[in-house]
Amino acid sequence: MKKFLAVLSTLVMVGTLASCGATSSSSDNGTGANTNSNTESKTDAKPADDSSSKTDDSSSSGGKTVGIAMPTKSLERWNRDGEYLKAQFEEAGYKVELKYSDNDTNQQNNDIQGMIADKVDLLLIAAIDGNTLSQTLADAKDAGISVIAYDRLIMNTDAVSYYVSFDNYTVGKLQGEYVIDALDLKNSDGPFNIEFTAGDPADNNAGYFFNGAYDALKDYIDAGKLKIPSGKTKFEQVATDSWSTDKALENMQNTLASYYTSTQLDVALCSNDSTALGVAQAISSDYSGKNTPIVTGQDGDIANLKNIVDGKQSMTVYKNVNDEAAATLEVSKAILSGQTPDASLVSSLSAEATYDTESYNNGVKVVPSYLLVPYVITKDKLDVLVDTGLYKWDSDNKYLESTAKTT
Ligand code: BGC
Repeated sequence: MKKFLAVLSTLVMVGTLASCGATSSSSDNGTGANTNSNTESKTDAKPADDSSSKTDDSSSSGGKTVGIAMPTKSLERWNRDGEYLKAQFEEAGYKVELKYSDNDTNQQNNDIQGMIADKVDLLLIAAIDGNTLSQTLADAKDAGISVIAYDRLIMNTDAVSYYVSFDNYTVGKLQGEYVIDALDLKNSDGPFNIEFTAGDPADNNAGYFFNGAYDALKDYIDAGKLKIPSGKTKFEQVATDSWSTDKALENMQNTLASYYTSTQLDVALCSNDSTALGVAQAISSDYSGKNTPIVTGQDGDIANLKNIVDGKQSMTVYKNVNDEAAATLEVSKAILSGQTPDASLVSSLSAEATYDTESYNNGVKVVPSYLLVPYVITKDKLDVLVDTGLYKWDSDNKYLESTAKTT
């Protein structure tokens, strides 16, 4: 039933996005608001002072404004998050101020300070670095503005009220379990060789992804069925600053040159798609083995889905960010109407989710969390993505394209 509702809601959203595309002038706000320092801009970008999009339908929202701070437009998924959040909040009658901060922590602090000065009623923040927002969020708290940590937990502050994300540990676990099945580790002695590529140490999620994958595989590593020739077994040794494709490429090239000139690489366990893209590129250009290593990912980025079709990536863990936006909207509505969201809100969400009041301690408090469910996509399951309404087949029916405007 939940799945049906999720599909229904995304189909409704497609209509919503389409109609927003026709009438809203605000899809460029993310870039237009940051014309001084954002590296990406659109030809139809609006001037910096026009970053609040207006909508006439404010009856259900009391004309309230929601400030949305996204990390960057340079990583594909945040474009989708910004797009879906903005569309859903506007559809519900809220005004939206949306900023992307070019993966620059100073800029994100400045952008959020700007929203506080603009007297937004609520802040949704996907932090670039979860440790650098404490002072700014203290200012938000002083101004009476509630904060939702979106997708990434914000650390060391009591000013964050809720966390809306996916079950991050499970994302890594699904990647590890995929490897166990693909190599039939339960029945095979191996040994197989694996290397890890993890995410940005500034992103609180990155450790969860790595640990989820490593823990799933630990017994096989301990038993010697899986070997790590580089010896890089710790998150810090395999982290990738800013989740950069180029850095992941370079790191894998170095690993291949140092450890794999005459050794077979069986698995490149990558925490997400932006890093998997670089790793797959390194394997294409610098790996001399005859086999095709397993490459994992996360997000369902378009270039990675192409690699999955072409056999250069094996799977991606998909997180429907349209559902994440919908859950965030429900939590926000409750906060903005003076309620205190709790476990009961889960039943009103269109996608399957859990309410967790134990797992996400940000150093100051355990932040109550709504966690959605990720799932595995492989080449034979690409139609599942099409069924979400967020992807479609290209004209050759070969690769997937996004139905969203920004990607
Ligand atoms: C998100 C991932 C994403 C990564 C890089 C993480 O915080 O949860 O979905 O791949 O950031 O953008």
